[in-house]
Amino acid sequence: MTDPQFGPAVLAWYDQHGRKDLPWQQGITPYRVWVSEIMLQQTQVATVLGYFDRFMSALPTVQALAAAPEDEVLHLWTGLGYYSRARNLHKAAQIVVARHGGEFPRDVEQLCELPGIGRSTAGAIASLSMGLRAPILDGNVKRVLARYLAQDGYPGDPQVARQLWAAAERLMPHERCNHYTQAMMDLGATLCTRSKPSCLICPLRNGCRAHLLGRETAYPEPKPRKALPQKRTLMPLLTDTQGNVLLYRRPSTGLWGGLWSLPEMDALPDLHALAERHGLQLGEPRALPAFTHTFSHFQLSIEPWLVPASPRVSVVAEGDWLWYNLTAPPRLGLAAPVKKLLRRVAEDSIGELP
Ligand code: ADE
Repeated sequence: MTDPQFGPAVLAWYDQHGRKDLPWQQGITPYRVWVSEIMLQQTQVATVLGYFDRFMSALPTVQALAAAPEDEVLHLWTGLGYYSRARNLHKAAQIVVARHGGEFPRDVEQLCELPGIGRSTAGAIASLSMGLRAPILDGNVKRVLARYLAQDGYPGDPQVARQLWAAAERLMPHERCNHYTQAMMDLGATLCTRSKPSCLICPLRNGCRAHLLGRETAYPEPKPRKALPQKRTLMPLLTDTQGNVLLYRRPSTGLWGGLWSLPEMDALPDLHALAERHGLQLGEPRALPAFTHTFSHFQLSIEPWLVPASPRVSVVAEGDWLWYNLTAPPRLGLAAPVKKLLRRVAEDSIGELP
């Protein structure tokens, strides 16, 4: 599919499948389209249906809206949420009346100057109600185009947005701009859905790069996750000849609260204090493979060390400490990475235990 075939394919689909019966698609005026677009910005079509007709009956023209008390506008908006939309609508109506003689400007740039109208909403008003060749790029259309182009990067990134806007501009046909815009919205809402797009019946399937790659849901790329702060810790597995490992119970508050875990330290020399406290003689520490555990707010690099420990002074450790037998593990609440580590040590290296 070439760029010039894009528009005709979308329009042919619109003729068969596009929505044509919505209230704001009847008796089309810039005012009606504008109000509907603002209502639809953060609200589902099904919800807007209950509000649009009531709003239009009460305030049928931009002059009526401009002259209404703000309280009445907010009253008509009650339940739709995001009330700054209603306040901006009211202000914009007053500007249209005062500065533009009650006529919406037939120009995207001037529409964008009105409160609450961004570039995409301006494009929707200009194309749907005036037939101007002004593209839109709302969330649904971003998804359609990002997939069609297999556009790399997060659309919130200005560089990526620039590329998508350029594509929206290039691919828009010169005829039937109103139907095309409605069709792009409908394609995004009904076929090119976020998780299970209906590619087999999509009019763009022959040209869609993401579909050709079999990677539809990889586009658009999600917002990049901020790199989590990194921390590291040494976890000694003080182990006796019978395969008992020294554990301690974490304080009930904080990380792994109340769970059994391995001792932690910043550096190997800290082993001396641990040995003294438990009356142990330690052998040569041996490094085990390090691994990373990810918490919601940081990443912990865990460096486990196998440390031969003997002899034990007491059979039962005191208080918040215990000797955990690897061959007959007691049923305890273990911190997740410790559980993984102990299982691995029990499986892999039990024959090599000191
Ligand atoms: N969402 C935003 N604008 C819309 C429109 N014109 N039709 C259906 N859904 C929409």
